[in-house]
Amino acid sequence: MTNSSPSVRPSLRADRAVQRGPALQLTVDGQPLEAFAGESVAAALFAAGRRELRQSPRDGAPRGMFCMMGSCQECLVWVGPRQLPACQVPVTAGLVVQTLAFRSQHLE
Ligand code: FES
Repeated sequence: MTNSSPSVRPSLRADRAVQRGPALQLTVDGQPLEAFAGESVAAALFAAGRRELRQSPRDGAPRGMFCMMGSCQECLVWVGPRQLPACQVPVTAGLVVQTLAFRSQHLE
């Protein structure tokens, strides 16, 4: 049995033995996202509970972060004019990111 209430979602970030950079804010799909310097965009999205970044062009299945080391390309996002793997992009204050799912619904 745990002490936490079932209605309160626990933080997905490690809270102990971690030295974080300063808090900052980026924008993902037009919404502010809190993150910490030193995190990747993918880590910030994962910590915020985002799992789906696009749909498979073949069957529409949800796709998201998988390897977290730049190999699988499942985490591609738009960062300005370029598609980049979110797991390889460090967060910076004011960074503007669009997921492929968002962009396909709103801009294409
Ligand atoms: S999660 Fe595989 S390239 Fe980013």
